[in-house]
Amino acid sequence: MAYLGIDLGTSGLKALLIDADGTPVGTADRTYTTQHPHPGWSEQDPAAWTDALDAVMSDLRAQHPAFAVIKGIGVSGHMHGATLLDAEDRVLRPCILWNDTRAFAEAAALDGMDGVREISGNIVFPGFTAPKLEWVARHEPQTFARVAKVLLPAAYLNLHLSGEHVTDMSDAAGTAWLDVGTRKWSERLLDASGMRADQMPRLVEGSDEAGTLRPELATRWGLGPNVIIAGGAGDNAAAACGIGALVEGQGFVSIGTSGVLLTARDGYCPKPETALHTFCHAVPDRWYQMGVMLSASDSLSWLARLTGSSPSQLTGALGDRVLPPGPVSFLPYLSGERTPHNDADIRGAFTGIGTQTTRDDMTRAVLEGVAFGLRDSAEAIRATGGTVDRLWAIGGGAASDYWLRLIATVLNVTLDVPSGTAFGAALGAARLGMAAATGAPIKDIMTPPDAHATFEPETDLQLAFEDAYAMFRKSYPAIKSIRNK
Ligand code: XUL
Repeated sequence: MAYLGIDLGTSGLKALLIDADGTPVGTADRTYTTQHPHPGWSEQDPAAWTDALDAVMSDLRAQHPAFAVIKGIGVSGHMHGATLLDAEDRVLRPCILWNDTRAFAEAAALDGMDGVREISGNIVFPGFTAPKLEWVARHEPQTFARVAKVLLPAAYLNLHLSGEHVTDMSDAAGTAWLDVGTRKWSERLLDASGMRADQMPRLVEGSDEAGTLRPELATRWGLGPNVIIAGGAGDNAAAACGIGALVEGQGFVSIGTSGVLLTARDGYCPKPETALHTFCHAVPDRWYQMGVMLSASDSLSWLARLTGSSPSQLTGALGDRVLPPGPVSFLPYLSGERTPHNDADIRGAFTGIGTQTTRDDMTRAVLEGVAFGLRDSAEAIRATGGTVDRLWAIGGGAASDYWLRLIATVLNVTLDVPSGTAFGAALGAARLGMAAATGAPIKDIMTPPDAHATFEPETDLQLAFEDAYAMFRKSYPAIKSIRNK
């Protein structure tokens, strides 16, 4: 028996095949493009997703005999996107993606309505699904009038695979239409943005069965009958399933283009005013919280581009021992910030530069600024009663030991680096497929990897970094007031 995880990412689709023991046996991927017809707009044609899926299925079928014995499939998708379908399931317009900011005014209006944050547990961010539909109602009324179903990207693939309109709780939580505490569509939230319950897909848990593979696809791909399609997950919940972060206190810090600090929660403890995201997990009776910073390793890549070096040259030049806070400070808001500021307009800053300032000083400042940004998310989670004391470190930035030691020190956490290739969301999706097909206990399927390295806080530097973090906290209001002048 084998299981398949499909990770529908922003820049491409990756599929991972695992065997009956959950061990990865093969992957295939395809990229696709994003259209930006106007500044701030970000759209994809759902046909690009199904074409990519067909191509990776052919690759896997040709290369891996285990493909023929697939029994379960799970899909992970980039969250919040609005795929609009008519009554015949025809796509009405390109999908509006999570990083599209055109609906900022609609988001602010919804966010200010009575009860909206209370029921959804979250700020209505411009990237969420509900404000996108408000935008379509205002600017494309003829399209809006024909909307029979709104599907998130992963749910669109679920429809393609199974013929069913069905989404999982973790992805549904990012729409601003879900009552995240009771895991049900909220009439009140749907009403607030002029939507109806019949336009929503059916809700299932990510690890439950959503449907079975359509016979036409089973024949095309050479698969047997009754291949189970799981509910699936939003990409961050799927990554948490992939790394075994399911119960209170387990989580990860992802130092990718953007930075995510995620911890699993046993209960529902929203605190929207912190700009934390509180979403249902992809498994029953669990939630997770995450802080999202928009420019994590992106800040380092930006400095690398500017100085004609690579990120690893920049970090390598600092050596291995963490230095105390440097004379230069950096605010990592190159693309605005979500947690804790919910501020799309803020931009970054260097302070303390002088004629003696070197490239290494600026590198130190960037690494420190990103670490402080992640500390903001850790503090927000701690303020909800969450535990942040040991995390997996994943993403491109986890390749720098210096950065990991610094983050461990600034956040006062132990960081573990997983051994082997981190398959992330694709592995989580495959595990959801396995759970749905076998009914095996979740805790037996979603196990953590081995750690190949562990980083502890440098206690002798913590006091100095506490002071530097206090200064960092004061910098945002200062920069904000300068920009507002
Ligand atoms: C989460 C978010 C992103 C997208 C794309 O709120 O916007 O992580 O899911 O990866």
